[in-house]
Amino acid sequence: MYKATLARPLTLALALALAACGSDPEPPVEQIVVREPGTPVAATPDSAAADPSAAGKAAFAACAACHSVELGGASGVGPNLAGVVGRKAGTLAGFAYSDAMKGSGITWSEEELDAFLANPAAKVPGTSMAAGAVSDEARRAAIIAYLAGITG
Ligand code: HEC
Repeated sequence: MYKATLARPLTLALALALAACGSDPEPPVEQIVVREPGTPVAATPDSAAADPSAAGKAAFAACAACHSVELGGASGVGPNLAGVVGRKAGTLAGFAYSDAMKGSGITWSEEELDAFLANPAAKVPGTSMAAGAVSDEARRAAIIAYLAGITG
């Protein structure tokens, strides 16, 4: 008798659970996007194109593996680039530049940066910057604008 009264609610609960599984499944939570009307969509590569500084920051990700842009921050594989626009090439204290960079005589204007980023080895033959060429002109412009905005 005791067993029977206990078993009945359990059976009912099990039946309800099974019925719930069989009904139309709710869409998975991660597919539901709730957005207030007029709220801008979160930053994506597409919306970054509309905001030059965001585009520059995103494009600079290719450089960030080797270069810090933190003011006064340490150099990495490459020299710290905070304040590089207007700086004489190969002169950041504490970084072991190639002789080619030290002897280049370049002062980094936006035009000089553009030429260097388009083809580092052609602009500074013998440079130790082995990666980071940017063939796309708009990407170079975005990166240079981003760097110009970081004054050291
Ligand atoms: C694989 C590492 C690496 C990547 C990636 C890289 N660089 Fe460099 N970069 C270096 C090294 C190393 C030097 C020093 C070159 C030398 O001494 O000849 C350098 C030097 C420079 C300089 C000269 C700085 C100075 O003080 O004279 C600039 C400007 C520069 N890089 C910009 C960039 C930009 C912008 C990107 C991304 C598009 C980039 N680099 C990607 C390693 C890298």
